[in-house]
Parts: sequence; structure tokens; C-alpha cells
Amino acid sequence: MEQSGDFIVFLGRFHPLFLHLPIGFLVLAVTLELASRTDKYVSLKPAVGFTLLLGAVSALVAAILGLMLAQDGGYSEDLLSLHKWLGIALVIFSFGAWILYEQKERRQTAQLKKAYAGSLVLMMVFLGGAGHYGGSLTHGTTYLTQNMPNGLRKLVGLPVNEGPKLITNLNEAEVFGDIIHPILETRCNSCHNESKKKGELQMHTVAALMKGGENGDVFVPGEPANSTMIQRVHLPEADEEHMPPKGKTQLTPEQIMLLEWWIGEGAPFDKKVAEVAKAAEIDAILQTLADPDANKTEVEILLAEGTLPPDLEKMNALKSKGVMIKSLSNDSNWLQVTIDKNLPVADLLAELAADFSEQVTWLDLKETPLADADLAAVSNFKHLTRLRLEKTPITDEAMDHLKGLNYLEFLNIYGSKVGDSGIEKLAGLRNLRRLYAWESDVTIAGAKQLEEKMAQLEVNLGFEVQVLDSLTVQVLPVGQTE
Ligand code: HEC
Repeated sequence: MEQSGDFIVFLGRFHPLFLHLPIGFLVLAVTLELASRTDKYVSLKPAVGFTLLLGAVSALVAAILGLMLAQDGGYSEDLLSLHKWLGIALVIFSFGAWILYEQKERRQTAQLKKAYAGSLVLMMVFLGGAGHYGGSLTHGTTYLTQNMPNGLRKLVGLPVNEGPKLITNLNEAEVFGDIIHPILETRCNSCHNESKKKGELQMHTVAALMKGGENGDVFVPGEPANSTMIQRVHLPEADEEHMPPKGKTQLTPEQIMLLEWWIGEGAPFDKKVAEVAKAAEIDAILQTLADPDANKTEVEILLAEGTLPPDLEKMNALKSKGVMIKSLSNDSNWLQVTIDKNLPVADLLAELAADFSEQVTWLDLKETPLADADLAAVSNFKHLTRLRLEKTPITDEAMDHLKGLNYLEFLNIYGSKVGDSGIEKLAGLRNLRRLYAWESDVTIAGAKQLEEKMAQLEVNLGFEVQVLDSLTVQVLPVGQTE
């Protein structure tokens, strides 16, 4: 008995190969039918009946092979039964269409013609349905949509793919949910899911995984070596029982270590990484799962994201007027700009703001005869991260124009006329980390006050104020010795 069973499954495995014949023949038959209604292809008419017959016979063979394959088991009952009945309906309707075609050729009644046309339509519906559910059986129900571009996904109402999820806070991450489940999901679930349960094992939910497979539990909490899922991944790849089966994407040694770690620590489903013991080597692997962006500043993330390419022609026009304007680095669209002290700074700033407000991230206006009002143009550079205004005649009023520069990280007002009430206006700049205010009107008290409001900020008042002042007491008058 065992032998004949195997042989049936052997034949059944030709189903996925053979099923393309009825699809081809039946689609061709309908195409010929439609084409033969035009004057040009009217001569194709006699071919329709024969093509339909070929389609019907091949559909019958494919259906028989399909029933044999189903003996193999491991398919979702619901999907399988839908696919099976649609396939059987297809066989019936394709033979029906052929018979009606032959009848209609003999007796050209309006009724027969209608019935024939109707049978063709239904036949195509069953073909589409059987094909669709067949595809879902072998590839899973998300096969078609898995790689759908996000724009299209939104359009048809599917959740947007976010790509592999990186862990932002490792200690707070769920051991199972954030670390183990993603491994099973990408390496095992394609065969152990709701529609395909190879070895009677499903892994798509916690309950399913705990239920185990046809041979019972697949993991023993605390005993990785006695857990079949671990035993199987360690078998030589050529072994029939090796998981994932030969030819499929294999687990990496790190992924295997993580699975063993999880089972070794009692296979918890509700613990966080911080709550579970881990050897140094596990810790090192876990670190690689953490989001490298997690510790990046907002400004670093902005700069890494990039921006729109600047208009090269307009860039050259500005260069010809003497403005130093160039990319921040070879492969970036971010611009760094210096306007020399001898250039008409107000006009050039306005021109720059009109065309490069997206791209300018470093701006150097040092020593220019800048008026407070001229800085209104600077408020347009919303991606500005560094601004140099040292040795310009600007006053407190100028700071009003900087209030919206949310990415500003470095500001230099050394040697300007800006004072304490000026820098107070910068208190909302969440990314401001360095303020150089040496020889301006800013006092130590004013600087301290701002630093207290802004934890990330360091105000630099220069060597002179902070260090020399305290040194002078120790410096002896010239000529005097101890
Ligand atoms: C390409 C399909 C496929 C993939 C991917 C796959 N398996 Fe399997 N798995 C099978 C088949 C088929 C069986 C049943 C035949 C057998 O027992 O070897 C099975 C059986 C099992 C069993 C035995 C269940 C039982 O009770 O007998 C375990 C455990 C298992 N798989 C674990 C895994 C793990 C862990 C992964 C991921 C690392 C995985 N499988 C990935 C196809 C797959």
C-alpha cells in the first residue's frame, strides 16, 4: 500500500507543471473565438472547437493530478477545498463550452449561441478562481502582494510594508515578539503557516507554535538540545529532515544561536531582553539587531536622508557673482555657502533663499556688513545646521529671524552686538548644541541662563572670559619677583 501511495504522490507532483496546459489552451480558445469575429481573422473560426477540446481534456488531466497531489497533505483545508471545487467546475464548464460550440455550429439557434457565450464566460471565471487559490496554496495568500510597491498598496488598502523592523531600544524589546518571531517568520513560516502546515506544524502564532507538529512539541523550554526544531536545523543540509529544507534560505549561525538562547532561557513569550540572562556572544548578536539610527541626532538623520538636487545653472550664476557655493560632500545635494565680506550680502542672500532654500545647510556670512533685517532671508533655509555670523554688526533683533531654524546646530555670533535678550530668543531651537558668543554682548549670567533652559546647549564665551579672568589673580605684575 505504502508503495502505491508514494507513486500517486509522485504523479501528483506533475500537477504544478501540467496545469499550465489547460490555462494556455483555454485562454487561446477564447482569444480565437473573439478574434474570429473580426473580418481579418474569420478563418480561425474552425480552430476554436479543437482548442476548446484540448483545453477541456488537459484540464481534466490536471484536475486528476491535483487530486493525487492533495494526498501529500499539509495544505490548508479551506483553501484546498475552494481550489478543488473551482478546478472541477472548470473541467465541467470547459467540456460544456466545447459541446455547446459543436451544437451551435450544427444548429445556429440564438439560444445555443447565448448558452455557448455564457459557458465561455463562466469557464474563464472558474479558470481565474482555481488559478488564484492554487497560487495561494503553494505560495501563501500574500505572494502576489508581498512585493507590491507601497504606493499601490495604499491605493488598494493594504498595510504599507515597512521593511525589516530594527529595534530602537534593545533592552525594552520583546524576546519572542521582536527577536525570535521575525526569524521564524522569514525562515519557517512559508511552509508552516495558516494555509500550509507541513508536518502538521504551524508557526504563525504563539498558540500554533506551542501546539507543535504531527510528532508533538517542537521545543522543550530550557532544553534546546532536546527540542526538535533545534535538532532539525543542526542536521546536515542534505538530510531529509533538515530545516529549512535543502535549497531554501537557511538560518544563519547567529539566528540558530538566538533560537537556542530563547529556548535555553525557558522559551518565554512575554519577557523583555533586559529580563533574560544572556552570554556575551548573544549580547553581541543582539546589538547587531538594534537600529543604528537609534542614537543618531535629528540633524544626522536629516543629513543622511539627503535632499532634492540643486539647480546647477542657477548655482553657476551665483558662483559667477563670487559666492562660494558647493556640495557638502561628493555624493550629497546639501550645499555649503560662503558670502564674502566684499559682496552685496543682502541681494545675494535673497537670491540664495529664492532658489536654494531646501539645500543650504551650512551658511557662512562672517564679517559681512549684515543688517538685522537682512537675516529675514535666512529664515527660509529650514535645513540650516550651521550658521556663522561672527564679526557682523547684527544685534538682538536679528535673532528673531532664527527662531524657526529647527535643525540649527552651530551658531557663531562672536564679535557681534547680540546680547542676553538676543540669545534668549533661541531657547526653542531643540537642536542647537553650540553657541559661540565670545566678544559679543552676551554675559556669563545670560549664557548660564540659556544653558539651563536647553540641556543640549553649550555656550562658548571664549578663553578670555572663562579662563583668563580667573588666571589674572595669580599673575604677578611685570618685574616683580617673589
Ligand atoms: C520549504 C518548506 C519548509 C520550510 C521553509 C520549513 N519547513 Fe519545517 N517542515 C517542512 C516539511 C515538508 C515538514 C514535514 C516533513 C518532515 O517532517 O520533515 C516539516 C516539518 C517540520 C518539523 C517537524 C514537525 C513534526 O512534528 O513532525 C519541524 C520541527 C520543523 N519543520 C521546523 C521548521 C523550522 C524551525 C523551520 C525554520 C527554521 C522550518 N521548519 C522551515 C517544510 C518546511
